[in-house]
Amino acid sequence: MQPWPHKHIHTLANFSIEDYTSVFELAKRFDALKDAGTKKIPALQGTLVTSLFFEASTRTRNSFELAAKRLSADVQTFSPNSSSLAKGETIIDTAITYSAMGADILVVRHPSSYITYEIAKNLDALNSKTSVLNAGDGLHSHPSQGLLDLYTLIKFFSPKLLNPKVLNSKKILIIGDINHSRVARSNLWALSAFGADTILCGPPTLIPDKFLNFLKSPSPNQVEDPIKFRGSITISRSLEESIKIADAIIVLRLQKERMMHNLLSSIDSYSDNYGLTTEKLSLNSKDVPVLHPGPINRGVEISNRIVDEYPNCLINNQVSNGIPIRMALLYLLNKFKSEI
Ligand code: CP
Repeated sequence: MQPWPHKHIHTLANFSIEDYTSVFELAKRFDALKDAGTKKIPALQGTLVTSLFFEASTRTRNSFELAAKRLSADVQTFSPNSSSLAKGETIIDTAITYSAMGADILVVRHPSSYITYEIAKNLDALNSKTSVLNAGDGLHSHPSQGLLDLYTLIKFFSPKLLNPKVLNSKKILIIGDINHSRVARSNLWALSAFGADTILCGPPTLIPDKFLNFLKSPSPNQVEDPIKFRGSITISRSLEESIKIADAIIVLRLQKERMMHNLLSSIDSYSDNYGLTTEKLSLNSKDVPVLHPGPINRGVEISNRIVDEYPNCLINNQVSNGIPIRMALLYLLNKFKSEI
C-alpha cells in the first residue's frame, strides 16, 4: 500500500487517485473480513478516537464510533450540552484539551465551514500528534460521505471487481440544494476525480451558475489539483430532462430552514418541480441507482415509494458502506502517525 500522505483529512479536493485507491482497497478488505464473520480486528488497539460533534448527527457519528470500535480503538464521545463549552470554553481549547488527554484522532463536526483547518493549525502549532478528521463542516466538506457515496456507486456498477474506472463518463445527477450542501461539494470532488460527469439540477436560488467553476476553486492551502483530468459539471433546471440521461441519481435533503431566506416560494412547489417520484423516475429507461445521504424528508425531495419499494434505492447500502470507509480513514490516519 502507498504511504498515506495526510495527517488531517479536511476535504477530498486534495485527494489523489492513490489516496482514493488506498481507502477503497482497505474498505474492500474490511468488507471481506466482515463477510467472513470477522467484525472486529485489533488494528487500532491502544488508539484513542474522540468524536467532537457540535452539530446533530445520526449516521456519521455512530458510524465513526462503530468503525473505531471494529478496529478495537478506545472511543471517547464529547457531548456539547454537558461540556465546558457551556462555561465559555472555546472550540479550539476544547480540541486542545482532548488532544492533551491523548486523543490520536479527533473526528469533528461543526456548523462553521473550515473550522477543522483552524483546529488542526492550533494543534500543529503545539506539536500535537493528534489528527483531525472532518465529519462535516458547515457548507464546505463532508469527506467520508463523499467517499462512501463513491464506494456505493462503484459497488453498484462494478460489483465483482469494484473498479472505480467504471464511473468514467457516467452521468451522475445530483438534485437539490447544492449551494448549502457539504455533501454535494464532496461528491463533486470525488465523482470528477474518476471522470464522472455531474449534472446539478434545481432552481437557481439553490444552484447558482458559479457551480460551473466549482472544480477550479482549490481548498485553503492547496496549490495544485492532484487530479489531472476531472469529469465535467453542468447545470440543468429541468428534472425530467436530466432524469432521461442519468446513469445514477443522488437526491439531497431540502433544508427547510432555507425557506426563511426566501430561496423557495413553497415546499410544495419545490416538490412538484424537483421531488423525485417513481413517475418521474420512469422517464429513465434504465433501473438507475438512487442515493440520498440522509436524513431524508419523505414526500418532499423523495417519495415514500422510492425509499420503500424501489429496488435500486441504495440509501441503506450507503449507511452500511459508511462503516468500512470510515474504518479505512481511521486506519490510514493511524498509519500516518506510526510512519512518522
Ligand atoms: N449524512 C449525514 O451526514 O447524516 P448525519 O447528519 O445523520 O450524520
